[in-house]
Amino acid sequence: MAVITEIEDLRKIYKRRVPKMFYDYAESGSWTEQTFRENSSDFDLIKLRQRIAMDMDNRSTKTTMVGQEVAMPVALAPVGLTGMQHADGEIKAAKAAEKFGVPYTLSTMSICSIEDVAAHTSAPFWFQVYTLKDDDFMKRLFDRAKEAKCSALVITVDLQLLGQRHRDLKNGLSAPPKLTPASVANMMTKIPWGLEMLGTKRRFFGNIVGHAKGVTDPSSLSSWTAEAFDQSLDWERIKQFRSWWDGPVILKGILDPEDAKMALNVGADAIVCSNHGGRQLDGALSSIRMLPQIMDAVGDKIEVHLDSGIRSGQDVLKAVALGAKGTMIGRAYTYGLGAMGEAGVTKALEVIHKELDLSMGLCGCQSVEDLDPSNLLIPEDFATRWQASV
Ligand SMILES: Cc1cc2nc3c(=O)[nH]c(=O)nc-3n(C[C@H](O)[C@H](O)[C@H](O)COP(=O)(O)O)c2cc1C
Repeated sequence: MAVITEIEDLRKIYKRRVPKMFYDYAESGSWTEQTFRENSSDFDLIKLRQRIAMDMDNRSTKTTMVGQEVAMPVALAPVGLTGMQHADGEIKAAKAAEKFGVPYTLSTMSICSIEDVAAHTSAPFWFQVYTLKDDDFMKRLFDRAKEAKCSALVITVDLQLLGQRHRDLKNGLSAPPKLTPASVANMMTKIPWGLEMLGTKRRFFGNIVGHAKGVTDPSSLSSWTAEAFDQSLDWERIKQFRSWWDGPVILKGILDPEDAKMALNVGADAIVCSNHGGRQLDGALSSIRMLPQIMDAVGDKIEVHLDSGIRSGQDVLKAVALGAKGTMIGRAYTYGLGAMGEAGVTKALEVIHKELDLSMGLCGCQSVEDLDPSNLLIPEDFATRWQASV
C-alpha cells in the first residue's frame, strides 16, 4: 500500500476508486471554478513566521468549538451524498470523527439517516439543515435531530439557489446513479466500490425519502428539491429557525461583514465564514481572504469558524491565527472516505493533525490558543485588495 503523507495522496486513491460522477461531484466548483481554486491558492499567499529557541515541548492542539471540547480546531463539514462516495459513508465518517475527538456534521442531503448515524455512534454529532420552505418538514427535521441528541445545529444560509456545476449536469448526477452506457462503463472499472454498494441498503436520501411530503420514492425527489429551497429567505425566517432549536446554532455560509453582523443579531452562536467550497457564487472571494474583514466586524462578539479550501494542517493554522476559533473540512475527509472508508477519514484527520502540530511548534507555539496574526507573514493588501464600494 502507498505511504500516505498528505491529503493529495488520498485524493489520488479516491479518484481511482470512486465512479467519475461522484468524484466530479466533490472535486468541482460552480461555473469557471475560479472561487473553488482560489479557496486553496489564497492560503498559499499567507506565509508562516519561523521562530527558534522557544519552548515547543508539550504542544496541544486541543480547544473548544461552540463550547465543546475538540482534539483540534477542525470539524467535518456537512457533505451531501457522502454515502455514495463509500457504502454507509456517513456512518463511517461519523465513527472516525468520534474516535478522533472532532465533531461530525451530518448533511440533510445524506444517504444514511439521522437515526441511522445516531444508532451507530455514541458521541453527539452536529446536524445541518438547509433553509427550506416546508415548515412541517423543517420542524420534523429539528425534532429528529433533537431525538438523536445532536449537539449543534448548522443552518446553511448560502444555498437559496443552487450554483450551476457544469460537471454534475454533464454527468447526470443522481443517487443512486442512473444507469447510462457511460455510467455503466465507468462503474465497471470500480468493482470494489460497486460490491460494497451492493452490500448496503443505504442508497437513497435517508433523511428525505419517506419523510418529506410526497417523496415516497427516489424518483419523486428531484421535483421536491426544485421546489423545496426558499428563494425568498430573509433574516426573520432565519431568526425563526434559530428559535426552534434550544442548543448551539451555527450559521454556515457567511462571506460578508454585513451578513456577519446580521447573524449576530439573530442570536447565532457561531458563524462559518464559507463560500460552500466554491460551489455557489463563482467569482466570490475566497473564505480565507474574507476572514479578516469578518473578524473585524464581529470577531469579538461571536465565534467565527472557517471552511473552503483547507487541505492541510497549515491551512488550519493560518485560519486560526487569523482569528477563527475552528475550521471545517469537506473535501479533505471526503477524499479519505472514498479512498479507504473509515480508515481513510481517520488518515485525513491524522495528516491534518500532524501538520498542524508540527507547524505550530516550528512557529514557536505550544497551543492553538496561542496562535495569532503575529505567527503569519501576510501580503499587505491581502484583506483589502478588493473592496465593496458601499
Ligand atoms: C461534495 C460536497 C457536498 C456538499 N454538500 C453540502 C451539504 O449537503 N450541505 C452543506 O451545508 N454544505 C455542503 N457542502 C459544503 C461543505 O459543507 C463545505 O462548506 C465545503 O466542502 C468546504 O470546502 P472544502 O471542501 O474545500 O473543505 C458540500 C461540499 C462538497 C464538496
